[in-house]
Amino acid sequence: MTRKYLVGGNWKCNGSLASVKQLCSALNAGDKLDDAKVEVVCAPPAPYVLYARNLLRPDFMLALQNCWVGGCGAYTGEVAADMVADCLAPTPWVILGHSERRHLPELRESDETVAKKTKYAVEKGLQVILCIGELLEEREANRTQEVNERQLEAVRAVLSPDAWDRIVIAYEPVWAIGTGKVATPEQAQETHAAVRQWLIAKVGRQTADNMRILYGGSVKGSNAAELACKPDVDGFLVGGASLKGDEFLQIIAACQNAAS
Ligand code: PGA
Repeated sequence: MTRKYLVGGNWKCNGSLASVKQLCSALNAGDKLDDAKVEVVCAPPAPYVLYARNLLRPDFMLALQNCWVGGCGAYTGEVAADMVADCLAPTPWVILGHSERRHLPELRESDETVAKKTKYAVEKGLQVILCIGELLEEREANRTQEVNERQLEAVRAVLSPDAWDRIVIAYEPVWAIGTGKVATPEQAQETHAAVRQWLIAKVGRQTADNMRILYGGSVKGSNAAELACKPDVDGFLVGGASLKGDEFLQIIAACQNAAS
């Protein structure tokens, strides 16, 4: 089974017109992608997404970092998946269920909300990077798999089995996000393999075999290669290091080399 690596750059709530322009030109200076081996998707903050679309090399796709649970209407401040599909066609992506949206006290998105958003987004033709992952106290209590399964089960309960081919899972242990504390390649492999087992049991073997499971949490140019060579690590969702052109290109190269 060969799954194409995917590298996502989650720019989070960072940037300005000037810095987006600078980052796009740094990324544009990188080598051409071997598109048989790796795909790349960058997720700028919403106000910059079309600006980035105009500036960024066409072989890099774009994503929103979130969207609303349903369609357009009187939902002040929200962005509907319909709009993402419109603006980012033909390859609209969205990140859903990021741990910051699940855990920030001002947001506290429930598993059910994330599942509802996921269902609506795939119905509108979006590809979804669905983030899951445990808190430090949950890992210390050996509850990693239980938490991942609970978050996935909420999605399975509402999603038709054939819609899973529009999903990429990003396993992002919350204790590794923005902390500089990366999961070891063994920890990532073990957790990704367990997620794949769950998919085999609950969604189907073919979906599980095709599913890309990304690792996220303090991925850098210097640690990407050893993570990428693990058999169930199919790419990365990168936060801090995706704001540095050179480093993000290094992470992409690490995936491309691991696929060789
Ligand atoms: P980080 O963030 O790479 O800065 O740890 C990853 C993420 O939140 O997606």
